[in-house]
Amino acid sequence: MLPALAVALAAAAAASAANGGFSPQHAHSPNVHHTNTAYWVIFAFTSVIFVVVEGALVTFIWKYRTGGRGRDADGQQVHGNTRLELIWTVIPVVILAAIGTVVFVELPNISGAPASAANKLEITVEGHQFYWLFEYPNGARSINELHVPVGQDVELTVLSADVVHSWWIPQLQGKIQAIPGRTNHTWFRADRAGTYYGQCAELCGLYHDVMKATVVATSQADYKSFVSSQATQTLGKSEFEGVCATCHGMQGQGGYGPALATNSLLTQPASLAAIVRNGFGKMPPVANTWTDAQIKALAQYTKTHVYKGASSSGG
Ligand code: CUA
Repeated sequence: MLPALAVALAAAAAASAANGGFSPQHAHSPNVHHTNTAYWVIFAFTSVIFVVVEGALVTFIWKYRTGGRGRDADGQQVHGNTRLELIWTVIPVVILAAIGTVVFVELPNISGAPASAANKLEITVEGHQFYWLFEYPNGARSINELHVPVGQDVELTVLSADVVHSWWIPQLQGKIQAIPGRTNHTWFRADRAGTYYGQCAELCGLYHDVMKATVVATSQADYKSFVSSQATQTLGKSEFEGVCATCHGMQGQGGYGPALATNSLLTQPASLAAIVRNGFGKMPPVANTWTDAQIKALAQYTKTHVYKGASSSGG
């Protein structure tokens, strides 16, 4: 008993030391402050209940142990205690009412639209196996890395192109599912410049684990410059690395999918477009919602950076 308890305590200490332990991530958007308030209120109640219940359990195990009594000796015979039963019914009702009140007071600030809706920036987030595609108001697109200005309300329209994913940036907003055929909304307002990390939070297939996302919060000027230059500069690279490389390797050397680096398809934009838009064999239609500009950026990048010339073995 005691050794097992010691091991459990040591494991709990190690578990709570990593990632801030029982604490939710630090809030960098107003809605997350409200989520965290609800979390700590519930945590306070459940902590007290845990200590009271486990304390009573240990006390009773000790106090009513057999000691010197015979194994078949009956204990004292008692009937119900009305007062005690009323108390242990009323207290949980009061606790649940308190938790419910806090949650329903906080909820509109967590899931509702931001107050200063007039100044909001609307961005579409689309989940794909296995990457995130972002579309900005001017039509610019980016992969896995969402750029936003600091201090501005950002409203996200969350969609899915294939299966259910879950968009989640713990420091900016709670989870919201990306569901095929359905439009969901969430929002955040980054309170300082920096990079915020997230992870698809719904098991969505073989490479669910690599379906990470970052939100880069910058000045308005840097945000504007990103969305105006994105289509030409880094889009092709981020498309190859964030979409193709998951299965075909960072250098196109092959992985779950076949090697690409010596495949002359990489130099033929029309054929490349057809295969990434429509899929082929086991290859899913990864680019089924891409614009022509996106396809063009990918074709340029694969031709100049991934293609290593035809294989001498004719493969
Ligand atoms: Cu997408 Cu998990």
